[in-house]
Amino acid sequence: MKKVLLTLIIASTSALLAADGAALYQSKCFSCHGAKASKAALNKSQIIAGWDAAKIIASVNGYKDGVGGPMKAVMKPIASGLSADDLNAVAATIASFK
Ligand code: HEC
Repeated sequence: MKKVLLTLIIASTSALLAADGAALYQSKCFSCHGAKASKAALNKSQIIAGWDAAKIIASVNGYKDGVGGPMKAVMKPIASGLSADDLNAVAATIASFK
């Protein structure tokens, strides 16, 4: 029993340490980009479902640098709040949506 508990504790701790793309998407992107990234955020963005991870990463890094469309000011603080690890993880999650 003790062994099982210990394993559970270790497993949940490592899940917290690794950037969790699905959890990040849910907490930071879902409200605007919608389920499975299938909505135009605030009715303005392109629909990013179907984009590959590299395209998403390049786009979000662009927002960090102040490059983007007419609503880029909305994405800038969100982009700047993501570490490189977070961005990799969330981009992989979005690219995996079917
Ligand atoms: C407050 C609403 C909001 C949230 C939350 C949000 N976005 Fe956006 N997103 C937008 C808007 C608005 C645009 C269009 C900006 C523009 O004009 O370039 C956009 C654009 C984008 C684009 C480029 C699409 C395009 O139109 O060129 C990507 C990629 C993107 N968002 C990813 C994300 C990711 C990843 C997250 C979560 C970490 C996120 N967004 C969270 C509103 C949001």
